[in-house]
Order: sequence, then structure tokens, then C-alpha cells
Amino acid sequence: FFLKDTTPDLKGKKVLITAGPTYEPIDPVRFIGNHSTGKMGFDIANEAAKRGAEVLLITGPTSLKTNNPAVQVKHVVSANDMYQACHEAFQTADIVIGAAAIADYRPKTIASQKIKKSDEEITIVLEKNPDILASLGAVKKQQFLVGFALETENEIEYAKGKLKKKNLDLIVLNSLNDHGAGFGKPTNKVTFIDKDFNIFPQELKSKEAVAKDIIDQIVKNYAE
Ligand code: CTP
Ligand code: CA
Repeated sequence: FFLKDTTPDLKGKKVLITAGPTYEPIDPVRFIGNHSTGKMGFDIANEAAKRGAEVLLITGPTSLKTNNPAVQVKHVVSANDMYQACHEAFQTADIVIGAAAIADYRPKTIASQKIKKSDEEITIVLEKNPDILASLGAVKKQQFLVGFALETENEIEYAKGKLKKKNLDLIVLNSLNDHGAGFGKPTNKVTFIDKDFNIFPQELKSKEAVAKDIIDQIVKNYAE
């Protein structure tokens, strides 16, 4: 009879994962954020650790915790903080998974004191944040780079565009159209698109099950 090979498939691999929202400060008490809870990224981190990886999870503000000793958590606040933390850890990473919902823009100036209420209308000028995955894609060597794409229209085309532009090896398309998927929901409906534009639609599943599918897909493509 055959003994099943029980070597965990990510043993010896360093996996860098981003999760959660970013908070972009307006003044000492206010920020611009989004509804990301961090759950998808935390589930991926726990799954990768379960499969033998050494995981660094760089997360924006979240109430989530992990008690897997193979997951090291680094907390950051803004997109710029996350950018810096990612580049510090990138060189030695084997696999990088960008699950964070990074703010595309930040307030151009941060008021040093709490902004007082006065006029009927005020304007906050925003400037673009760096694209973290694209910046990693531009300098990648051995790293297998995985991104997400959140779309509401022309999903496949837009996701393919992000895959190419950011020099990714795999993109996970998140469909907000499907009931039960996305922010604050326990479930997700995703489609994988690999480097050669092969498309693998998945069923609506729990985020834990999606995390397992994502790691399965990465292991399959990484081996090639
Ligand atoms: N991402 C990133 N840095 C940013 C914005 C996004 O690394 N400043 C990453 C996200 O973590 C995700 C992927 O890029 O893995 C796609 O994010 P998404 O918001 O869908 O795409 P954008 O490139 O920001 O384009 P848009 O929001 O205009 O669709
Ligand atoms: Ca975006």
C-alpha cells in the first residue's frame, strides 16, 4: 500500500500577506477608511500556516486576532506604513498575497489640530497613495505575487488588466455582484485568473473555504 505524502505543501516557504483596511488621517481624531474587516487576509494567513508556511501578516486596523504561532502579525495604519512594511519584508518572501483594501487616496495635508466646525461646506483634497502590489511587481525576482481585484462591472477584463499592469502571477477576482459576497460577509465568490489568462470560476463559499482554494491554486501554479 502507499503512504499518503503528509509533508505540508508550503513547508519552508515564507509567505507575506496583507490584510484589512488602511486608515488615512485627516486630523488627530479623524480618518478616511473603508469597510474591510481583514477576515479574508486572516483566513489566508491561518491556512498558509496550517500548510507549513512561515507567515508574516501585515494588517491595517482590525479587531481580528490569530493564535497560530506560525503567523507573525505586524500592525500598520496607513497605506504608506503598509508600503514600507511590505518592502522591508519582500526580499526574503517566496509568496506574497495582497488581500488588503488599501485606500487609493489620502488627504493631502493632515491638520495638526482637530479641525473646528465652521463653514457649511468644507473640502478635503486627496492625493494618490502608492500602489503597493504594482511597486512589488516592478522589483520582483523569485516571488510569486498574488493580488485581488474588486470589481462591479467588466470584471474579467478589469481583473486581467490589473494582473498585467501589476506584474502578478495570479489574481483573485472578487464579485460584489453576487449576493453574500464581500465586505463584512462570511462568504465570498471568487474567480482565479492565472498569468496565461486561464479563468477558474469558484462557487460561493465561506471565506475559510475560499482561503483553502486560494492556497491550492497558488501551490498548483507555483509548482509549474
Ligand atoms: N492594491 C495595492 N496598493 C494600492 C491599491 C490596491 O497594492 N494602493 C492592491 C490590493 O491589495 C489588491 C489589488 O491591488 O490586491 C487590487 O486592488 P483594487 O482596489 O481592486 O484595484 P486598484 O488597482 O486599486 O484599482 P481600482 O480601485 O481603480 O479598481
Ligand atoms: Ca483600489
